[in-house]
Amino acid sequence: MTNIVILTGAGISAESGLGTFRDEGGLWAQHRIEDVATPEGFAKDPQLVVNFYNERRKQSVAAEPNAAHHALARLESDLAGEVLVVTQNVDDLHERGGSQNVLHMHGALNSALCASCGHRWPAPLEMHVGETCPSCEAPAARPDIVWFGEIPHYMDQIEAAIARADVFAAIGTSGNVYPAAGFVQFARSTGAHTVELNLDPSETVSMFAETRFGPASQTVPLWVDDMLAK
Ligand code: APR
Repeated sequence: MTNIVILTGAGISAESGLGTFRDEGGLWAQHRIEDVATPEGFAKDPQLVVNFYNERRKQSVAAEPNAAHHALARLESDLAGEVLVVTQNVDDLHERGGSQNVLHMHGALNSALCASCGHRWPAPLEMHVGETCPSCEAPAARPDIVWFGEIPHYMDQIEAAIARADVFAAIGTSGNVYPAAGFVQFARSTGAHTVELNLDPSETVSMFAETRFGPASQTVPLWVDDMLAK
């Protein structure tokens, strides 16, 4: 019985055509974080922010899961043990690739949130500023995304899962953003084997007992084969 927690970042969706944030020409080279990924930015120019997520939602809908997403779904269905995907990504490629046990700690493009009452509902492909909440009818709909300065979701669940994990893997993340970047340190402290699968070494690469470099569509299926062969 092996329990595995897998943290994923933008790199796992790169080969599906979705941009990463900090690679050459990435999203944070095209937009200022404070303008499109903070509550202050949304208050200042809600149309700019709604447009930014509408564009990313359309790209996400048009993208297809790649071999890495499908391999993680195979691991979840074939492993004798628990497999939890904790994703920083807001696309739904893990679910469309067949994973069922997925926690979106930074929110999701396919969900809308009422800033007034906290109600969530499936987001339309294109959201508009001042859209009313289907529950409280306040004109307070916003993208259901965790912005910088806001609290990531599911932290208690994630920490409990890491505490009982035998293996902690990080895939396609640069290790720049906390609390996600700190998970590997906690995993080591609870005795899990830690492995980084990334195109380039992340900021936290030295914390991992094992590293596998290359594109996720190649490294993840091979790693899953190894996990299932144990
Ligand atoms: N295969 C594997 N890894 C890849 C690939 C690929 N094909 N392409 C890029 N990568 C790696 C890069 O080497 C980099 O380490 O993916 C990582 C992407 O890093 P970031 O762009 O910083 O994305 P991420 O780590 O997910 O960012 C974390 O920051 O801006 C916030 O909320 C946002 O969730 C995001 C968080």
